[in-house]
Amino acid sequence: MENKDQQPVYVTRPALPPLEEYLEYLERIWASRVLTNNGPFHQEFEKELADYLGVRYLSLFANGTLALVTALQALGITGEVITTPFSFVATTHSLWWNNIKPVFVDIEPDYFTIDPDRIEAAITPQTTAIMPVHVYGNPCRTDAIEKIATRHGLKVIYDAAHTFGVTVNGGSILNNGDLSILSFHATKTFNTIEGGAIICHDEETKRHIDHLKNFGFEDEVTVVEPGINAKMNELQAAYGLVQLKHINEYIEERKSIAEQYREGLAGVRGIRYLNDIEGIRHSYTYFPILINNEHYGRTRDELYEMLRSHNIYGRRYFYPLISQFPTYRNLPSSDPVKLPVATQAAGQVICLPIYPGLNSTQVDRIVTLIKEGAR
Ligand SMILES: Cc1ncc(COP(=O)(O)O)c(C=O)c1O
Repeated sequence: MENKDQQPVYVTRPALPPLEEYLEYLERIWASRVLTNNGPFHQEFEKELADYLGVRYLSLFANGTLALVTALQALGITGEVITTPFSFVATTHSLWWNNIKPVFVDIEPDYFTIDPDRIEAAITPQTTAIMPVHVYGNPCRTDAIEKIATRHGLKVIYDAAHTFGVTVNGGSILNNGDLSILSFHATKTFNTIEGGAIICHDEETKRHIDHLKNFGFEDEVTVVEPGINAKMNELQAAYGLVQLKHINEYIEERKSIAEQYREGLAGVRGIRYLNDIEGIRHSYTYFPILINNEHYGRTRDELYEMLRSHNIYGRRYFYPLISQFPTYRNLPSSDPVKLPVATQAAGQVICLPIYPGLNSTQVDRIVTLIKEGAR
């Protein structure tokens, strides 16, 4: 089998819009010299993005992490928040930056989102909110979460960083909960280099969020609260407007790669992948596979290293669990015994390369390596 003689293939490669289309926007920015502070492209992008996503109110942000931090501020969340350990570390860091104690709850085994059946047992008098993650772009069980939240008077903030354009029976996944946040980081299905957004459901909340992301300014001389600087600039907003013209192609390409992986890996002993869910339009942000070493004959890490030796750089998202990082591992809810499903998933997962431009020969080669790796 060939070794390091091929170009490296990474887990992702940013989708860039056609340069000539972006240059037209840059020329307009150079002419106007409006670089930031809710400029014309920012306003246009907010509108077009809300239309594309099928949501009513959306606030652009400099990145998804600041959107999460600000979402918690906007709702005045304090005390304890119930969340998942199976996510990117920014989910929990946003709580930490707000002086909120994270309480980890295990995930469900099919799609690795927070297990609603375990949420109620974690509620204490200090709990004020739930922060679930639509991890890999697969929707949480939103109805069950909403029922629990209503019963206990809790807010729900969805970390929807992986969930660009995801719809459930035709409606946006982002219409659930009190707020949802998106990330437009370079590695995501939709990118504005860095970027993010908060989705809310009424005008007053949007106004509040818009103040919070701009130092708390309500007008030129009025600062209504201690806000932060989390604004998206005009270069990113313009870039986002161009990206939006191509996003459907990006998602289609990702989808066909996912289909090719599924077809190629079907029936390989010890390898599991996630299928699309009926009624859902997926974002295909990641293509995770789970390796059962007893059936596959190699551990996840052995397969991961073997692929690397062939210049295929998958990523073990989300390993280690957030609850295993030094900041969080001494929390009572971080005990792996209480998080068996998440602990197992973190020990078995590799996210395979998926991005527009990854061609079918490359996907074939990855599938072949995985098949040949079975013992
Ligand atoms: C689940 C999740 N939440 C939050 C973030 C943070 O977003 P950003 O990188 O835009 O700050 C990311 C990704 O980066 C993520 O994967």
